[in-house]
Amino acid sequence: MLMHSKIEQKIEKLREQIRQHDHNYYVLNDPSISDYEYDKLYRQLLKLEEEHPEMITPDSPTQRIGSDLTTEFNPVQHAVPMLSLSNTYSREELYAFDKRVKDILEKEPDEKINYVTELKIDGVSVSLIYTDGYFELAATRGDGTVGEEITANAKTIKSIPLKLRKTKLNLGSRLEVRGEIFMSVKGFTKMNEERARQGLKLFANPRNSTAGTLKLQDPKIVSSRPLDIFTYYLIESENQIKLHSEKLNALKQLGFNVNPNYAVCHGMDEVVDFCDMWVEKRSKLPYEIDGVVIKVDSIEDQNKLGSIARSPRWAVAFKFKAQQVTTKLNNVVWQVGRTGTLTPVAELEPVLLAGSTVSRATLHNMDEINRKDLRIGDTVIIEKGGDVIPKVVEVILPERKKSRKISMPLKCPVCNTPLFRPEGEVAIYCENSECPAQVKGRIIHFAARGAMDIEGLGESIVDVLVDKGFLESYADIYTLYKHKDKLVELERFGAKKVSNLLSSIEKSKEKPFSRVLFALGIRFVGTGVAGKLVDYFNSIEELENVTGEEIENVHEIGPRISASIKKFLSDQHNLHIIQRLKEYGLKFKEERKKSGNNFLNNQSFVLTGTLESMTREEAKEKILNLGGKFVSSVSKKTDYVVVGENPGSKADKAEKLGVTILNEKEFINLLESGNGRTS
Ligand code: IVH
Repeated sequence: MLMHSKIEQKIEKLREQIRQHDHNYYVLNDPSISDYEYDKLYRQLLKLEEEHPEMITPDSPTQRIGSDLTTEFNPVQHAVPMLSLSNTYSREELYAFDKRVKDILEKEPDEKINYVTELKIDGVSVSLIYTDGYFELAATRGDGTVGEEITANAKTIKSIPLKLRKTKLNLGSRLEVRGEIFMSVKGFTKMNEERARQGLKLFANPRNSTAGTLKLQDPKIVSSRPLDIFTYYLIESENQIKLHSEKLNALKQLGFNVNPNYAVCHGMDEVVDFCDMWVEKRSKLPYEIDGVVIKVDSIEDQNKLGSIARSPRWAVAFKFKAQQVTTKLNNVVWQVGRTGTLTPVAELEPVLLAGSTVSRATLHNMDEINRKDLRIGDTVIIEKGGDVIPKVVEVILPERKKSRKISMPLKCPVCNTPLFRPEGEVAIYCENSECPAQVKGRIIHFAARGAMDIEGLGESIVDVLVDKGFLESYADIYTLYKHKDKLVELERFGAKKVSNLLSSIEKSKEKPFSRVLFALGIRFVGTGVAGKLVDYFNSIEELENVTGEEIENVHEIGPRISASIKKFLSDQHNLHIIQRLKEYGLKFKEERKKSGNNFLNNQSFVLTGTLESMTREEAKEKILNLGGKFVSSVSKKTDYVVVGENPGSKADKAEKLGVTILNEKEFINLLESGNGRTS
């Protein structure tokens, strides 16, 4: 009995970790661990769930294809789900895959299967729809079932044909092509260098800059970014093509870019050779890859193999391990973040790793330093995985000679204020909110992409403006225009840059309330939380006047977040800054097409699956207009769950919790009865 509940706890803990990493990766685009570590967690969970199938719950990360969406672009339902691949890291696992394929296809053990091996491009996957030979729509993967439309942005990529070339193939009128949009390492480096010159925030790696670019709302800017595509998958309704390798050929004939480094391998030995070869050769490629994809060549066999929940059984990814090198730990410095948290940063003897020179790595906190028993002077192994910030993996103990223990600072390295460590926390804080490092951090956060999005107000420019006394808080950004003449005189500025900066500042006043709320930099209030708050509370005044408990009524917002919001909004200094920002014209109110109708009286709605008569965004708009709340996940507090086509696990959860379930017709009736009241 006891054993069982221990396993249950372990499973739940893994799920929580994976959920958090999924959120960081898919929603925030800000991965916190390497793919390798993530997969280790995921596989631990899969294994435990396989051993204890009775413990599988519909909300387990293994029970879904992808993750939450950031819905700024129209949702698109994929006609065929965009699956992901299961990963392998060793030859043994590749041979196990081969055996499974043969078992299912009832082949003899010594028979050789034909596999196509392709490079696994590290970019953003996309689906392209063509009707009668013309490009019609592009969508991102999203959660695998519903993605976001990015047609206008995709159109700017020159290697995506707008009209297909004529071929002798008879493939039917609707074609779907899938591939990976990416940026070459050179293009990425050049773009980042230009951004550094302009004082803009740098992208972490080519994949992040590709994802960030595809989310831009201005296709003109997108077209100036060096995006490219390799296509690797074709869906044709006529079932004309019998081999995957022939599909790649067809794609080339139709005018698509297909990565040239693919092979048809006869049997798993050849596949393993191909993988070994690319482990060696990957660093010579002009773009980043994170593995090899292995696909059964015969389409008939692919269909026989089918797929399980998350991934096809006819394909697998062989993932490269993170690239590692050894170097020396020269020193540890402590960096002060915008909320006053001190983070140790390793200063390393510069080494070349995965195409760039590394001289710094994050160490997270003191516990990690102790756990790894790191000392200054040690020889350490560092690695760079899918995420670009390198990390220290371990110390090579036998090589330890003269080394010095790392101690926690007692005073803030920037402002000299004695530091504070709350009981039970690993983090240490500088509590002086006027500490220059914090002031700069808050301004950088305020101006960043995803917040007020002020082009030209990146780290290095903020440094100068704070040091020269132009900015003391982010509210001062909006009085910079008064100092135009002096700004032009500054080094690295000039008339054009200043005028661009000022117009970008002016434009930022248009940003909606949710962005402003996020930009304020309240601890624990990220974009997701800000969005949820705004769906509930219409204005900053409403938020100032409610109790912490009322804030906790918003699903997924607990006492930690609500306390932080209350603390921020009861600080006189913060209130003064908010007052100034209001006077400058920033939005502290959610602008909704107000019907003045409060028929739904704050009742909360969750939508799962697709509705026939309206998009998700339209449904949300209607609910909010009638005074309801639109929330993302089901809890006991939810009033209604609206269930459309292909609902997810939220429907089961609603049933379990006894929440009222509405089908599309019932939902529309409810909305109409509300509209009727005012007309
Ligand atoms: S095949 C069912 N081929 O890897 C087939 N994927 O984890 C699934 N990727 O989402 C895709 N290069 O974004 C395939 N040559 C390639 C690929 C590739 C990169 C990405 C793709 C997919 C992910 C799978």
